[in-house]
Amino acid sequence: MTAPTSPQVEVLPTADAAIPILLGELRAALVRRPRPLIGFATGGTFTAFFAALAAEFAAQRLRGSDFVATHLDEYAGFDAARRGGMVHELVTHCAGFGEMLRSGAFLPVPGSEAGLAAHEAAIAACGGVELQFLGIGRNGHIAFNEPGTPFERGFHATTLAASTRDDARPRFLPEEPPRQAITSGIATILAARRVVLCAFGRGKAPAVAAMLRGAVNATCPASAIRRHANAVVLLDNEAAGDLRAQASAQS
Ligand code: GLP
Repeated sequence: MTAPTSPQVEVLPTADAAIPILLGELRAALVRRPRPLIGFATGGTFTAFFAALAAEFAAQRLRGSDFVATHLDEYAGFDAARRGGMVHELVTHCAGFGEMLRSGAFLPVPGSEAGLAAHEAAIAACGGVELQFLGIGRNGHIAFNEPGTPFERGFHATTLAASTRDDARPRFLPEEPPRQAITSGIATILAARRVVLCAFGRGKAPAVAAMLRGAVNATCPASAIRRHANAVVLLDNEAAGDLRAQASAQS
C-alpha cells in the first residue's frame, strides 16, 4: 500500500466550494476527539467560512461547548476589543466566537510576549491543536511567519513585511497598520494533527506555486506544509494558475 501524499491538493471551481469542505473538516475533528482545540486563521480568505460558522451556531448545529477555539496571531498591543485586531475580526464575523470568548472556550493570542508561555501552556492543556486552518500571504507567509523565519520557532514576536502591511492597510484606515505582531511559529503549526490551507484568487498564485513546487525552506514559510504528514491545500482556479502554467511549460 502506498502512503497517501501530503499535502493533498484540491483545485475547486470557486472559493465558495471550499465552505462545505471546511465545515466537514471541523465536523470530522469533533468526531475524532471530544472537545478538540481548533485553530482558526483570520483574513479575507475565511470571511465566508465565518459566515457559514455563524449560521451553524445560529441553527444550533454547532455549540460553543463542542470545541475550544484559538487562532494564529495578533497585532502587537491589541486586545480582543480593538478594531483591526484578529480576535475582533473573529467575533465580528461569528458571534459564536464572542460567546466562546466570554465562556473561556476561546484562547485569544495575547498581544504581547508576556502572555505567550501561558498561551502555549493552555494549548498543551487542550492536548494540542487538532485541526489548524491556514491562509497564505502573497509573500508566502503563514500566520505572521515572514520569509526568513526558521521553521523551528514556536510563538514569537515579529516585524511585519512591507507587503503584509500593505495588505492590512485597508482594515486600519485612516490609521497606519501596525509594524509588529505576535504569531504562532511554524513549529507550532506543524504540530497540529491536521492542517487545512486555503488560497483563493490570482494574487495568491505565485505564493502557491512557491509553496508547492519551490524549495522547502524559510524563503517561502508556507513550503513547511510539505513537512506535514496530514495536510490538505484547497485552491480555487485562479490561485492554482501558476501551478498549471508551470506544469504545461514542463510537458
Ligand atoms: C494575514 C494573517 C494570515 C493570513 C494572511 C492572508 O497576514 N496573519 O494568517 O493567512 O493574512 O490573508 P487574506 O486571507 O486576507 O489574504
